[in-house]
Amino acid sequence: MPPGNDRKAENGELKAAAIAHPNIAFIKYWGNADNTLNIPLNGSISMNLGDLVTRTEVAFQPHYEQDTLSINDSYITGASLERVSRFLDIIRELSELKFFARITSETNFPIGAGIASSAAAFAALCMAAAEAAGLKMDDVELSRLARRGSGSACRSIPPGFVEWHAGAGDQDSCAYSIAPPDHWDLVDCIAIVQTDHKSVSSSVGHALAHTSPLLPAFTSDAVRRLADCRKAILERDFDNFAGIVETDSNLMHAVMITSTPPIFYWEPASLVIMKTITRWREKGLAVCYTLDAGPNVHVLTTSDLSAHIVNELGQIPGVVRVITSKPGGEARLQNLSSDQS
Ligand code: PMV
Repeated sequence: MPPGNDRKAENGELKAAAIAHPNIAFIKYWGNADNTLNIPLNGSISMNLGDLVTRTEVAFQPHYEQDTLSINDSYITGASLERVSRFLDIIRELSELKFFARITSETNFPIGAGIASSAAAFAALCMAAAEAAGLKMDDVELSRLARRGSGSACRSIPPGFVEWHAGAGDQDSCAYSIAPPDHWDLVDCIAIVQTDHKSVSSSVGHALAHTSPLLPAFTSDAVRRLADCRKAILERDFDNFAGIVETDSNLMHAVMITSTPPIFYWEPASLVIMKTITRWREKGLAVCYTLDAGPNVHVLTTSDLSAHIVNELGQIPGVVRVITSKPGGEARLQNLSSDQS
């Protein structure tokens, strides 16, 4: 074991644990320049969701014969396990470690339903596995590595409000914080209309994006949207923020529904919520919507209004539940013995 490494080693086992938050994209990532390295066509901006947490423990053992993965006490096999194993292969190659691993992950939110569960999953896995394998990496290196697992995971490594610089290749495609979590007291009120696993994975969606005639419009205007969104966040200007966030979400979904085959992530209730939010904002409420690759609607507002908004969202037919979150911190290592925090 390298000097100064504080990971536990019992019976040859190399173990570490980390937590990470999912993030909600305000300026979206949809479409890759490089599908293997997850180099996006454009930059993106997001906010970590501090009340939602994934905690992942990775244990490399010399006598394991394969990687195993359990999420919320269920053993996962097939494509999801293969994706995790491919990601661990990158870490095994970097660290020259030959062991397979046991990965145990827990989340306090529904996975695969447009709450960026893969972002939190790969950010926590990246940090825990790199530590357990003895790799000493700074946050920029971890962000680059997390991106290989799931593009948006690179944005769950730094704290608060985060921008992913698209970059030209593996070395410069990574995310940086543009403001700490306490910069702006936004609350994401997530109106859950469906908790099932989404039908089309984002990896498939990124590849299909290239079949949409609207993709060039989405990417060529991205620099403007990024600048407007960054400025609105830094100035805490809700009106401008709301306009650009909704335009960006609508643009991404326009690309999705004009791909071949088309991907419709919205459910009827999603549209009802979006139209309701538009009416509320016309009446003067600081509220706007955005949707990732799923039907659940992320309703952004300020903390003084959030209790009211949650209550009102709960009255809309089709809303099963509303989950709220404040801005969150960075991905971080956890003591192996500690509880989820
Ligand atoms: O990181 P992925 O491959 O799950 O892609 C994320 C795609 C969106 O959530 C729809 C947008 C984004 O920027 O997070």
